[in-house]
Amino acid sequence: MLGLFKKRRSHAGQAADALSVPVVRWSAEDVYTARMATENSLVVGASGAGKSTGSGRALALGLLGNAKAGMLVCCAKSDEVFRWEEYCAATGRTADLRVMRPGGPWRFNPVSYELAREGAVGAAENVVGLLEAILECADRQGDSGGARDDEAYWRRATKQLIRNFVDLLILATGTVTIDALYRAVISAPQSLDDVRSEQWRSSSFCFKLLTEADKRTKNSSQEKDFALVADYVLCEFCTLSPKTRSVVVSCLTSQLDPMQRSVLRELFGTDTTLTPGDCENGAVIVCGLPTQVYRETGVIANAVLKYCWQRCMEGRRIDAASRAVFLWCDEFQTFASSRDAAFLAACRSSRVGCALLTQGVPGVYAALGGGDKGRAEADSIFGNCGLKVFHANSDPQTNEWASRLIGRTLQYRASGNHSHPADDQVSALLGLDWARENGTTSGGFSEVMEAEVEPREFTRLRTGGPDNGWIVDGIVFQNGRVFKASGRTWLPVQFNQRA
Ligand SMILES: Nc1ncnc2c1ncn2[C@@H]1O[C@H](COP(=O)(O)OP(=O)(O)OP(=O)(O)O)[C@@H](O)[C@H]1O
Ligand SMILES: [Mg+2]
Repeated sequence: MLGLFKKRRSHAGQAADALSVPVVRWSAEDVYTARMATENSLVVGASGAGKSTGSGRALALGLLGNAKAGMLVCCAKSDEVFRWEEYCAATGRTADLRVMRPGGPWRFNPVSYELAREGAVGAAENVVGLLEAILECADRQGDSGGARDDEAYWRRATKQLIRNFVDLLILATGTVTIDALYRAVISAPQSLDDVRSEQWRSSSFCFKLLTEADKRTKNSSQEKDFALVADYVLCEFCTLSPKTRSVVVSCLTSQLDPMQRSVLRELFGTDTTLTPGDCENGAVIVCGLPTQVYRETGVIANAVLKYCWQRCMEGRRIDAASRAVFLWCDEFQTFASSRDAAFLAACRSSRVGCALLTQGVPGVYAALGGGDKGRAEADSIFGNCGLKVFHANSDPQTNEWASRLIGRTLQYRASGNHSHPADDQVSALLGLDWARENGTTSGGFSEVMEAEVEPREFTRLRTGGPDNGWIVDGIVFQNGRVFKASGRTWLPVQFNQRA
């Protein structure tokens, strides 16, 4: 009994050590540990406030240098790759750095990776999910500026198309490639006449797949899948109105098309020399196609890596020695997806955390569609970030939000008052000062609920650069924590951009 008890304690002790490493010291007495970092962190501040070079830099160096964390870094700005090369050099982690970029040694084929990992059924699910994630992310970057609620129909219809054609490929060939998916969709019948036509049957790749799938030996579940696929392709799809069909097809093919071209084909459509799982052994994977430079291609590359990484980490099996692993998204609004809220809510138990940097609340609301659903998802993401660092900001909505989050406390205000009767002219004329003293004197304290940090305070924080002696001010808030240095739930912290 005693032995068992001892064993348990030492097991817990090991786990505690692995995650108790300090990542950043907010003050001499207040440490931010790797365990806390797995509860996710959010850095908010206006453009140029010092997010990337202030608190972001301090967190990144701490995660790499002290926690020896594995990381996936999504890149929006052109200097992000260079920044992480510097961070890795400064923390002795260059050997772990894997920048995925054209001409480099690192490539990842998400489809074959899933096939090898989970077999055809898992791969089908993942290809469907992956394509959905790409469509969602690419939609947001488009002219619409955000996924709108009225797009739900098109999204559902496109998802149905993907699912059926992925199943068809799996049933016919046992595998999926982006190229084959593209060819199958564009050779699908456009009418019932096509279905009956010899010419379509002899030239269509889609029909060849249907014939092959029909011939293959299938178990009962595959039989059912095949019946559904055949119904969809030969009855439902070809009887859609031409306009609807062409929109649904182009929703998909417009996203598959870039996947088959130059850079994306090279990085995600050939062999696999790195996998998201490598982060568990300390790899620092950087998506070397920043969205600012590579535009749509960059958006897709980051979305593919982020989706596959999240899926891999959700299935992570951990033990006492498992390393903490992090997702890093500077300019988070560029990469936000509807899966993030659920991921952030659950990732801590897999020793996985996310570090999200963004300008303010409205940008994330807009990125997630701007409607009620998007707002709820964004609020859930913010709520699941245990650490918040607020930098200078002049956005009223963000400042009000930050102020409300930090909270209100009972503040005591001293007040005093002295008055004498206005008609006491007689005493005044007679010089009877003692009589005048008989006025009313009152004093005391009143209790008022006031914001601990007023919204305007966030407009006064320093933003670094030479004018501020390279100092960036931040206000740090950690859920459920009272800082020793301030005795409060928040703490002003100075970050030195040059330290
Ligand atoms: N090398 C430098 N020389 C001069 N000023 C600098 C330098 N590096 C950073 N700064 C200043 O530090 C401030 C913070 O920059 P930083 O890039 O961290 O802001 P940010 O909050 O990440 O902004 P954004 O949202 O635009 O990415 C800026 O005002 C910038 O001008
Ligand atoms: Mg920045």
